[in-house]
Amino acid sequence: MNRMKLQNRSLEIAYHDVGEGTPCLLLHGFCGSSAYWDELIPLLAPHFRLIVPDLPGHGQSSVPEQPYPIEAYADDLNQLLRQLQIDQAVWFGHSMGGYITLAAAERHAPDLIAFGLIHSTANPDDEKGKQNRDKSMQTIEQDGIEVFIDGLIPKLFAPQHLTAMPEKVEKAKSIGRLTPPSGAQTALMAMKNRPDRNVVLQTTELPVFLAAGKNDQIVPPEKVFTVENELQNRVVIEQAGHMSMMEDPEFLANAIKRFLKR
Ligand code: MLT
Repeated sequence: MNRMKLQNRSLEIAYHDVGEGTPCLLLHGFCGSSAYWDELIPLLAPHFRLIVPDLPGHGQSSVPEQPYPIEAYADDLNQLLRQLQIDQAVWFGHSMGGYITLAAAERHAPDLIAFGLIHSTANPDDEKGKQNRDKSMQTIEQDGIEVFIDGLIPKLFAPQHLTAMPEKVEKAKSIGRLTPPSGAQTALMAMKNRPDRNVVLQTTELPVFLAAGKNDQIVPPEKVFTVENELQNRVVIEQAGHMSMMEDPEFLANAIKRFLKR
């Protein structure tokens, strides 16, 4: 794992840099880490250069100081690419990583070649969603990150995979338990306050990849496919909930390859 200190910031980002070709940034979701992409990396690295960071406040990256909105994640990850001398990249974001990707498409469009949202949405949190963020912050505060993660992770997998893929569920739990509690709190606040970005999806001039898991209980397909745009490539992954990079990595990798080869 490499580490990069961002210029003029106290933040340090841990990341993998593997493969050659068009640079692709792979962003994991809330309480994940770069290890979410472990099975995708060998499938994509023969074709593309993959930059796979731990998000700020996750994995081995440092925890940013609050307030740290979704836009700050996008700005800092774009800064990471600049410091790697990468002028333009394709951004792919899983769930919270997709919220960050949309913010990057809004704020740094000239630096993007294309972008993809994987089990993510341009919709903001509704009132109930915002209340759930507050409850999650409370659970982390009162019961600790492990209890919170043990409640969260089973909801991310398609119900049939909880028994069919116990080792993957366990892996996602062990990744989640390593999230610094303050990093998880920062992310919850950022997700709660993120704006509606459907206008970005609607008006972007970049090619867009949208992947939905048929059995996703967190971001179901109708929340992924919110607006039409002729530059969109849509896929529904039948054998996935919210975690296709673990539940059906081959399908996801092939869909990404097809999108990037166009
Ligand atoms: C994620 O996987 O990043 C989160 O579940 C997304 C969310 O809670 O909105």
